[in-house]
Amino acid sequence: MRARGSPTATGPMAGKRESKGRRHRHGQTGRQYRPLRGSSLPPAFAVAAVSGRLQGKVAIVTGAARGIGAATARLFAQHGAQVFGIDRDPADPSSPQVECLQADVTEVAAIETTIEQVRERCGRIDVLVNNAGGDVFSDPLSLVDDDWDRCLSLNLKGAWNATRAALPSMLAQGAGSVVNIASVHAHKIIRGAFPYPVAKHGLIGLTRALGIEYAAQGIRVNSISPGLILVPRIEAWFAASADPEAKRREQTELLPCKRIGTPEEVAYTALFLASDEARFINATDILVDGGRSQLYHD
Ligand SMILES: NC(=O)c1ccc[n+]([C@@H]2O[C@H](COP(=O)([O-])OP(=O)(O)OC[C@H]3O[C@@H](n4cnc5c(N)ncnc54)[C@H](O)[C@@H]3O)[C@@H](O)[C@H]2O)c1
Repeated sequence: MRARGSPTATGPMAGKRESKGRRHRHGQTGRQYRPLRGSSLPPAFAVAAVSGRLQGKVAIVTGAARGIGAATARLFAQHGAQVFGIDRDPADPSSPQVECLQADVTEVAAIETTIEQVRERCGRIDVLVNNAGGDVFSDPLSLVDDDWDRCLSLNLKGAWNATRAALPSMLAQGAGSVVNIASVHAHKIIRGAFPYPVAKHGLIGLTRALGIEYAAQGIRVNSISPGLILVPRIEAWFAASADPEAKRREQTELLPCKRIGTPEEVAYTALFLASDEARFINATDILVDGGRSQLYHD
């Protein structure tokens, strides 16, 4: 693990950075942020500007061995966070700055123990990205119960398992940001992709419910809904089709911007939501789909 100072010392949501009862320019009273001398930015923003947007934070990213999770974990580390990736598979060797812990998010005891290890070592958990997930696509009446259970267990319950394990630490700190990786399937339906959209709609429900439950304790819960993102398994899907280039063209043409998204584009959205830049954003979802889900038809 990388040596670093106490995350608490630079922990951005520290109450002592706020002053009570100040009146801001819109005339509201309550807990207000006092700008640093010579700066119009609140203190946490000024700190982020000089030293990384997640400086001093402890972040956990599930499903970090590949794809969107690997890109997110890497980006968080580049922005100063101490990052732990949790995956059922071994670590991504291209991210040496991310410490990978092996656990399956669907196994309650394993995920609790793993997240508790992070809390014991670092004394806090500032950010949790629930990214582990996967497609389970079927015609509804052909679906076997095991696949229903596997889909809901991974794409919905897995996020709850990890969040439940991280919440006590966030509540004790009075701060925390949870980012759930949902999908365009949480907004629009593609026939034959059942029950994945059921789970992803549920994940947005989880986001809203927990965001409201814990808002007053300083915890934010948001989600990101990616459209098609070019990760290795999507490349493998193209490669496995009869005409890989035609498949790629067909998928690209479906998108208003005529290109497929990158894992980094989702990672930057997660970085924003995890950071204090998004401190007034809670219980909501950001679509990262190049506009695809707003299209009626061409
Ligand atoms: N790539 C896309 O086009 C796309 C679009 C919309 C939503 N998403 C969502 O984004 C997330 C990441 O997708 P991706 O495309 O990067 O997938 P991916 O398959 O490339 O990576 C998923 C990672 O999660 C891990 N994982 C799977 N099950 C796990 C479990 N039970 N416990 C721990 N780790 C587990 C895998 O080992 C893998 O490293 C998923 O939730 C997916 O539903 C992806």
